Amino acid sequence: MRVVSGIQPTGNLHLGNYLGAIKNWVKMQEQGECYFFLADLHAITVYNEPNILRANTREMAAALIAAGIDADKSVLFNQAQVPGHAELAWLLFCTARIGWLNRMTQFKEKSGKNREGASVGLYAYPVLQAADVLIYQASHVPVGEDQKQHLELARDIATKFNTDNNKEIFTLPEPFISGPAARVMSLRDGASKMSKSDPSEASRINLSDDDDVIVQKIRKAKTDAEALPETMDELKDRNEARNLIAIWAALDNVEPQKILDQFAGQGFGAFKPALADRLVAAMNPIRTKFVELKQDIDTIDAILAKGAEKARETAAPTVNAAYEAMGLLR
Ligand code: TYM
Repeated sequence: MRVVSGIQPTGNLHLGNYLGAIKNWVKMQEQGECYFFLADLHAITVYNEPNILRANTREMAAALIAAGIDADKSVLFNQAQVPGHAELAWLLFCTARIGWLNRMTQFKEKSGKNREGASVGLYAYPVLQAADVLIYQASHVPVGEDQKQHLELARDIATKFNTDNNKEIFTLPEPFISGPAARVMSLRDGASKMSKSDPSEASRINLSDDDDVIVQKIRKAKTDAEALPETMDELKDRNEARNLIAIWAALDNVEPQKILDQFAGQGFGAFKPALADRLVAAMNPIRTKFVELKQDIDTIDAILAKGAEKARETAAPTVNAAYEAMGLLR
C-alpha cells in the first residue's frame, strides 16, 4: 500500500483537518509506505505574503509531527522541494479536459463571483493535485469528503493518460474517506463545513486554541433546545447535534451511536461540558508538542529537506516514464 496525501499550509490546523484526514494519516503509517506533504504550490493559487507562507509551511510541518506523523516512518516534505510535481502537472494539463475542470465545485466556491479575476492556478489546481498523487503511484489517498471530486478527477486523468499513451504509467489511486468525521461541520452552522477560510473564529477549533478557548467555543457552539435522542436516525434533521456527536465519536474511534448511548435523554447542558473535557484531553498534548516544536526551525527544515530528497528519488522514474511515453526527448 502506497499512501499519499497533502495539506495546504495556510493558517492553522483545525479540528476538521485533524479528524477528517490527519488522524487517518497517523494510523496508516503503520500499514503502508506513506508520503505526506505541505501543499505550498497549492497555497499560492491565492496571494500569500511570502514571509507568512514560509512561516506557515514550517508551522504546518510542526503541527503534523505534533499530531503523530513520524518523519522516520513517513516521508514528510513540502511540494516546492520536489520539482516533479510541477513538471508532471504540465503533462497532465495537456491530458485533462477543460470540461472536466469546469465541473469542479471547489473552484466555483473559491472563486465566488469574481471568476474572471481568479488566478489560472486556482482553476488548474485539481490537475496539480492529480500530479501529487500519481507521481508516487499512490494506491490510497486519505482525505476528507471535500476532496472526493478532486480524486475522481485524478483517476480520470490517469486513465486517459494511460490509454492515450498505450502504457500503464500511472496507478489508479483510491480515495480513503473514512469515519464519522469525514466532513466536520462549522460550530456556528451545521450546514457548512469547518474551514480555515470561515471568517468566524468561533466556527472552528484550531490546534493553537488553548484549553479555555476550546471550552468556550464548545459552550457557544450552535445547538437546539431538545434533549439527545436514542438513535442516530432521530438526529437526521439536527445537523449541529449530529456534528458534535460525530466529533466525539471520531476522537474515540467509535461509532456515533456509542456516544449517543451514553447521553440519550440528556440535554446539551450536560453534553457540552463533557465534550469540551474530551476535546481538551485530546488536543492539549498535541498543542503542547506543537508549541515546542515550532520554535525549532532548523530541525523542521532538516526533516523537510530529508523527506524531499527521498520524495524526489521515488518520483523520478514515474516522471521520466511519463515524458518518455509522450515522446518528449530529454
Ligand atoms: P486542505 O488543506 O483544505 O485540507 C487538508 C485535509 O483536511 C481535510 N478537511 C476536512 N475533513 C473533514 N472535515 C472538514 N471540515 C475538513 N476540512 C478539511 C481535507 O479533505 C484534506 O484531506 N487540495 C487539498 C490538499 C492537497 C491534496 C493533494 C490532498 C493537495 N494535493 C493530493 C490529497 C492528495 C486541500 O486543499 O486540503
